[in-house]
Amino acid sequence: MDKLEQARLKINGIDRQMAELFVERMSAVREVSEYKREHGLKVVDPEREAAIIKSNLSYVPEELRGLYAEFLRDVMDVAKSYQRGAEVKGEGCITLSLGDRSYDILVKRGSLSCACSFMDLDRKVLIVTDDGVPAEYAKTIALQCAEPYIVTLEQGEKTKNLDSFRLLLCKMLENRFTRKDCVIAVGGGVIGDLAGFAASAYMRGIDFYNVPTTTLSQIDSSIGGKVAVDLDGYKNTVGAFWQPRFVLVDPDTLKTLDRRQISSGLAEAVKMSLCFDAGLFEMFESGGVDENIEEVIRRSLMIKKSVVEQDEKESGLRRVLNFGHTVGHGIETAEAGRLTHGECVGLGMLPMCSAEVRKRLAKVLTDLGMPLKTEAALSEIKSAMLHDKKSENSGVTVVRVDVPGSYRLEAMTFDSLFSELDSFYGREA
Ligand SMILES: NC(=O)c1ccc[n+]([C@@H]2O[C@H](COP(=O)([O-])OP(=O)(O)OC[C@H]3O[C@@H](n4cnc5c(N)ncnc54)[C@H](O)[C@@H]3O)[C@@H](O)[C@H]2O)c1
Ligand SMILES: [Zn+2]
Repeated sequence: MDKLEQARLKINGIDRQMAELFVERMSAVREVSEYKREHGLKVVDPEREAAIIKSNLSYVPEELRGLYAEFLRDVMDVAKSYQRGAEVKGEGCITLSLGDRSYDILVKRGSLSCACSFMDLDRKVLIVTDDGVPAEYAKTIALQCAEPYIVTLEQGEKTKNLDSFRLLLCKMLENRFTRKDCVIAVGGGVIGDLAGFAASAYMRGIDFYNVPTTTLSQIDSSIGGKVAVDLDGYKNTVGAFWQPRFVLVDPDTLKTLDRRQISSGLAEAVKMSLCFDAGLFEMFESGGVDENIEEVIRRSLMIKKSVVEQDEKESGLRRVLNFGHTVGHGIETAEAGRLTHGECVGLGMLPMCSAEVRKRLAKVLTDLGMPLKTEAALSEIKSAMLHDKKSENSGVTVVRVDVPGSYRLEAMTFDSLFSELDSFYGREA
């Protein structure tokens, strides 16, 4: 046996011993993790880690100390992600399965204050929020980060543009963010879409976490990986598919959201229930959504999860989520800011339902305090629909619901859709 062969055999033997020690170490880590969870302690304890590394260095010769410190840090990183994994697999967690882009979504009251148990915040963290979101939410996250940088933008859709995108990238560059650092969105869909897009582009993509704080973002926009900004007033024109690493939904954050925003976001849940989950639609019909908000969020997320898993890049099935949006977008543009997106989606769903479902939907929308009529001129709604980027040539594919819990797609020309709208609104354009 030559020298090389002997050395290789020796390494194999050492690797076997290390494998046994690794299993033992992970079992001890699991015990620590359970203790920490029971006592509400943080996964990451940087001071303790530094002290352990320092004391362990005395066991190795001087020339190997640098490398050994690196090795210990790697071992600790593996242990931390194992602890987070154990934490995440707990109650209230939904896993979105997309191969190596899979991630967990946690729906849990009060989870904001233990975000670091689920996310790796032991690095530089760009926390993006807006001035309409209570500042304490971003601060609560910042307190759990090793090196937080909070950026507070002006609230509203107008912030979702290339200037804000640039500002976020510059902030990361100025503070020497590397590919190992991360971005967290704390806010509604505007902040999530913008911060996610910045994360997707910085250094060709860094980790992104989403902490949605509106009903719309908790139910819908925070999962699925669609990130974007608007360009010259055209919505979501520049963007990417960039899946978050983890989504933390704390329904307690909705306590500060105003009623109109809550209902608007819920319109997306009503939309999903009509297409996929008759039981959820009945929950809306029986009222009491506020008391059951966690259930509504969870069931909506289950629907979105299933759609995204089957069609991550929106080449087919995912288009069903446009139910109510073809006409809704037209109304939204024609209303020019008087109505919210959700209110317009509600109005856009009505003509696409059977008479029986329409009656039931109208009651649900009324209970949510949402309008049943638009003041905009039908001619303006139609011309806005023709300009919608989702419209293909002379026609559109609309989603229809005849019975709650099921849908059908129908390819139509604009002419036939418009004449249907004429009779629906009972007037000529
Ligand atoms: N990526 C996707 O798949 C997807 C899906 C649907 C919608 N969207 C996008 O989402 C955006 C709309 O999201 P939105 O409805 O959440 O709007 P938003 O982000 O503008 O939030 C609405 C308002 O609520 C405030 N706010 C947020 N959280 C709050 C809280 N907890 N308490 C008090 N105020 C709070 C904000 O400051 C803002 O003024 C649009 O830009 C839309 O294009 C994206
Ligand atoms: Zn929508």
